[in-house]
Amino acid sequence: MNPLTIRVLHSLSDGYFHSGSEIGDAIGVSRAAVWKQLQKLIDAGLDVECVKGKGYRLEGGFEFLNKGLIASHLSVESSVAISEIDLHSEIESTNLQAMKRISETSARGYLCLSEYQSAGKGRRGRDWVSPFGHNIYLSFVWEFDGGASQLEGLSLAVGVVVAEALNALGLEKVSLKWPNDILLNGRKLGGILLEMSGDPAGVCQVVIGIGINVRMNKRHEIDQPWASIAEQLTEVSRNKLIADILSRLIPMLKEYGGSGFSSYQEPWESLDAHRGRLVDILSGNSSLEGVASGVYANGALRLSVEGIERPIYGGEVSLRVRDDS
Ligand code: BTN
Repeated sequence: MNPLTIRVLHSLSDGYFHSGSEIGDAIGVSRAAVWKQLQKLIDAGLDVECVKGKGYRLEGGFEFLNKGLIASHLSVESSVAISEIDLHSEIESTNLQAMKRISETSARGYLCLSEYQSAGKGRRGRDWVSPFGHNIYLSFVWEFDGGASQLEGLSLAVGVVVAEALNALGLEKVSLKWPNDILLNGRKLGGILLEMSGDPAGVCQVVIGIGINVRMNKRHEIDQPWASIAEQLTEVSRNKLIADILSRLIPMLKEYGGSGFSSYQEPWESLDAHRGRLVDILSGNSSLEGVASGVYANGALRLSVEGIERPIYGGEVSLRVRDDS
C-alpha cells in the first residue's frame, strides 16, 4: 500500500464520515486522487462505505498497528525480553524476515509485525492469506540452548498460550486442532508456524509465527472453513491482543527449555477440539484413520488405530476430521 493510500486510510481511521474534498484538503491532493486511493483501499478488502451527501467512512474506524501502544500493554517481563519491535506496513512474510534477521545477528527477542503479507506462509507449503490491516501477522524469535529435541511440542504450547489470550478477550468456543490450528466455533481462526535455525544439537533459534484472523471478511478466498474474532467481538484492539499474546508467550518460552511440553499436556487436552473423534491423518498421498485420543507428554498425537494407540508426530502431517466433511 503506497504512502498516499495510507494517508487516506488515516483520514478515515476515526470511523466518521468524511467527504472526498475534506480528505483531499487535509492531505493536499485533489478529490479525484482521493477517490483513486479509496478504490485501492476497497481493493485491499477494507469495507469503505460510501453514502451520497455524507462521504466515506470505515465503520468502526481503523486501528493501525502501533509500537507505542503495543509496548504500553506489555508486561514488564515481556518488554525486557523483546529486543526490537520491527513494524512493517507490508512485507513478504514476517517469518521470512525473522529468518533473515537470524542469519545476520543473534536476533533473540526480535519481534516482526506487519499490516500485510504478500507471501504469508502456512504449514505444509501452503499460503497464508494476509489482507492489509485486518488481522495479526506476528513472528517472534527465541533462542534455546540445549538442542532441538527439547523443543518437542513447542508449537502446541504456543497454541495453548494463544488460546488463553483469546479466551481472556472474552471469546467463546476457542479450541485447538492438533498440531497447531486455533479454532473458533470449530472453524480456523489462526495458525502457528515454527521455523528453526542453528545447531540442532546446541544453540538454536526458533521463529514463532502466529497468524490470527481479527477482521477477515468474506472477500478473501480461503480453502477451508474459517473464523474471525469480529464475528463475536466487534471492538478488538490488535495492538492490545498482540501484547497479551506476547505477555503469555515469553514466560512460557523462558521455562520451556527446562520443563518442555509436559506441563502443557493437560491444558492442551482441555482445549482439544477433536478428542474421541474419528480422524484421518494425512501425510503426502497417504492417509491413516483412527480415533484422536489426546496427546502424549511430547506433543505427539495419541491416535487409536483398531484399538492400539500410537504416536503421530507433527512435521508434515495434518489432521482431517471424518464426520466434518
Ligand atoms: C498454518 O498453516 O496454520 C500456519 C499459519 C501461520 C501464519 C503466520 S502469519 C505470521 C507468520 N508469517 C508467515 O508467513 N506465517 C506466519
